[in-house]
Amino acid sequence: MGIGYVHGYSADEGTRLHDQATTLTGLLHADSRYPAGSRVLEAGCGVGAQTVILAGHSPEAAFTSIDISAVSLAQARHRARQAGFANVTFQQADLYRLPYRAAGFDHVFVCFVLEHLDDPAAALMELMRVLRPGGSLSVIEGDHGSAYFHPDSDQARRAIQCLIDVQRQAGGDALIGRRLYPLLIRAGYREVGVSPRMVYVDGSRPALAEGFTRKTFTAMVEGVGGQAVGQGLMDAADWARGLSDLRRAAGPDGTFCYTFFKAVGFK
Ligand SMILES: C[S@@+](CC[C@H](N)C(=O)[O-])C[C@H]1O[C@@H](n2cnc3c(N)ncnc32)[C@H](O)[C@@H]1O
Repeated sequence: MGIGYVHGYSADEGTRLHDQATTLTGLLHADSRYPAGSRVLEAGCGVGAQTVILAGHSPEAAFTSIDISAVSLAQARHRARQAGFANVTFQQADLYRLPYRAAGFDHVFVCFVLEHLDDPAAALMELMRVLRPGGSLSVIEGDHGSAYFHPDSDQARRAIQCLIDVQRQAGGDALIGRRLYPLLIRAGYREVGVSPRMVYVDGSRPALAEGFTRKTFTAMVEGVGGQAVGQGLMDAADWARGLSDLRRAAGPDGTFCYTFFKAVGFK
């Protein structure tokens, strides 16, 4: 990870990650299935938002879910226990130096993690080390450059750019989705395939407007308000206007588009 994880570890951020995961389950996870008996490593599980979806879709696979944050892991453990999953083991670990032997996993899953790392290529190589020959790596990442909306707004676009800039200062890359193919190829993965998954929201989908445009995307931009205004990237009035324009895009007359990228490669 870079100097500081841009979204932080607050209770609100934990809620945002769960809103994001449940709203996008069909779009991102329709094909996230692992065979019975397979050993799956989930790297950077956070508060377990994806973990419970993965474990639920593949109840007979054995998941090892790791994160560097003990606080997030405690929440993930609690969540998995509440949901009654017995097929997940949680462990605190750094994905740059995994405490696992070579080739011990059949599959690796990573979601919304590479975008926060200062060296995603090194992480992908370490993940390759613990993968067995023929095993698969699945990576899901966003790309904030893919966000466009109606009504359009200069202030809203600048607010999104602030998030991209603050994440870059922390060592991450909020535009990583478009780079997944070359990153995986360079790390040595074979038969790499990338599928863009677009979220489109309009007034006919109020639940998606609430769950994705407001509570996932706009909440994420809002989270860097203090840094954006504090560093003078935007003045307070323009920032407030940008956020209000993003919320308007989630209203009955607004529309919002965003593209996630899901890459699968093999060792
Ligand atoms: C945006 S969260 C995503 C969590 C989860 N995958 C999800 O989709 O809800 C990114 C997570 O990556 C974790 N992380 C960052 N750097 C890490 C590292 N070097 N090793 C392990 N986990 C790391 C953070 O602690 C954080 O929980």
